[in-house]
Amino acid sequence: MAKVPVQFTLNGEEKAEFVESGATLLKALRDKIGDMSVKSGCQQGTCGSCSVLIDGEIRLSCLTLAETCSGTVIETTAGLAESGVLHPLQRAFNEGFATQCGFCTPGMLMAAKALLDRNPQPSREDVVDAIAGNICRCTGYEPIVQAILAASRSNSVNAA
Ligand code: FES
Ligand code: FES
Repeated sequence: MAKVPVQFTLNGEEKAEFVESGATLLKALRDKIGDMSVKSGCQQGTCGSCSVLIDGEIRLSCLTLAETCSGTVIETTAGLAESGVLHPLQRAFNEGFATQCGFCTPGMLMAAKALLDRNPQPSREDVVDAIAGNICRCTGYEPIVQAILAASRSNSVNAA
């Protein structure tokens, strides 16, 4: 399989790798770069666990070719905390018991961040819409929705 160069900014750091042509961004992030915060679930675009932000937009990394990401800015859950201080969304998930097994949590956090970045004061309906593509087997969703709304009410979220 031919290797192709790809370079992008990941959580503020420049990355340059050679990936197999046709490899997914999910595979590149986990296997080449070692960002295991991006979860590999269905690999078919139906569970949302692999969600990342690309240039500020929520994307499924299992359906994104790594070679199409050159020049982009990619954010994952691994970059949410700054200098050891949790992002307001991470604090709200912890405090609101919005995480059980945790497998869906990175995808949920990125979907929530995409929402709050463009709409800092979302309605409950906005939150439900934003996480509609993310499957959780454990929580029943309500603690997650409440945690996102709680984060949106915190003053610090707008500065994060
Ligand atoms: S692993 Fe990408 S949507 Fe399930
Ligand atoms: S907390 Fe287990 S899948 Fe969501």
